[in-house]
Amino acid sequence: MGGSAGGSVLFDRIGLLYTADPEREELTDAALVTEGDRVAWVGRSADAPAADRRVDADGRAVLPGFVDSHAHLVFAGDRAAEFAARMAGEPYRAGGIRVTVAATRAADDAVLAGRAARLVAEMTRQGTTTVEIKSGYGLTVEDERRSLRIARTLTEETTFLGAHVVPPEADPAEYVDLVTGPMLAACAPYARWVDVFCERGAFDGDQARAVLTAGLRAGLGARVHAGQLGEGPGVRLACELGAASADHCTHLSDADVTALADSGVVATLLPGAEFSTRSPYPDARRLLDAGVTVALATDCNPGSSYTTSMPFCVALAVRETGMTPLEAVRAATRGGAAALRRDDVGTLRPGARADLVLLDAPSYVHLAYRPGTPLVAQVWRGGARVA
Ligand code: NIG
Ligand code: FE
Repeated sequence: MGGSAGGSVLFDRIGLLYTADPEREELTDAALVTEGDRVAWVGRSADAPAADRRVDADGRAVLPGFVDSHAHLVFAGDRAAEFAARMAGEPYRAGGIRVTVAATRAADDAVLAGRAARLVAEMTRQGTTTVEIKSGYGLTVEDERRSLRIARTLTEETTFLGAHVVPPEADPAEYVDLVTGPMLAACAPYARWVDVFCERGAFDGDQARAVLTAGLRAGLGARVHAGQLGEGPGVRLACELGAASADHCTHLSDADVTALADSGVVATLLPGAEFSTRSPYPDARRLLDAGVTVALATDCNPGSSYTTSMPFCVALAVRETGMTPLEAVRAATRGGAAALRRDDVGTLRPGARADLVLLDAPSYVHLAYRPGTPLVAQVWRGGARVA
């Protein structure tokens, strides 16, 4: 995602600085200084030290760059016709993934890499400075490996999702053996995480357990697609195995909510998927009131959520899942970092990576209040301006 800088930069006259740092989450009349690729100082504008360069925020808002902890960016083709059919009343089905698998297998490396890079560039322009990228549209040893090789050129947060769906040519039991054996061995060098789509029509609880356990044994961290289309064993499995995050969490039993709260596993909500599949939204209020850490991400993929926009997801989360604007922005920054077990991104405190967004608005509230409006004026990553 580019960007690193020498020297220091002073951002002053910030109307509202949202740091996402629990110690002092919001400051008015604020300033922030970056030194190299790190945040060096945060405080009142009147007290700010000098720096090599100055950016006058002129009363506008600054917040951490968004941490989009769930995205599927390595694929070819699109599924606009499937979307249109859904908007005419067809339901979303996990099996649509196979359409993208066929297109992805047929594409050459340069096409896949170019398309993924364009999606990351779209994200950057909308304020995302850290992105997780999954494989999962190759579903052969070689196609999964090349997907992760491409993802690795774009982010350090890469996830092996060979267990996205059973490909049409495979027998389910043999495919789980492939995913947990030779495919994992080929992919692990390019991956930080292992993920599984634990859902009716994809992988059941026993299969998901086998995939996650093998990934953990290979040294990867675990994350799980769970509770997207219905309640199932995925959330409790994530909690039992110490996954970093359970993603979707749209359909949860009371026991799931308790398990999330007790385990500290992050619940990552992906309201773009409910928007694009015209489905009931997850209940963030229930999770937050139970003490669960919540993250927000785009789930960018050609089937269920073809958006790269974290501002759009913030607006959806506020309007549709019961979050306040503050809770949604927290989930899109510090929450996403927690879902990736990162403490160097997602907050603006001294020592953190200098990833920040300057809005053309006086407050982050405007992200939800003015949906669909391009409010991201500047994006800085690692102390360098990237958009
Ligand atoms: O997170 N749930 C599984 N994977 C994607 C959907 C992928 C697709 O439909 O292509 C998701 O929503
Ligand atoms: Fe997903």
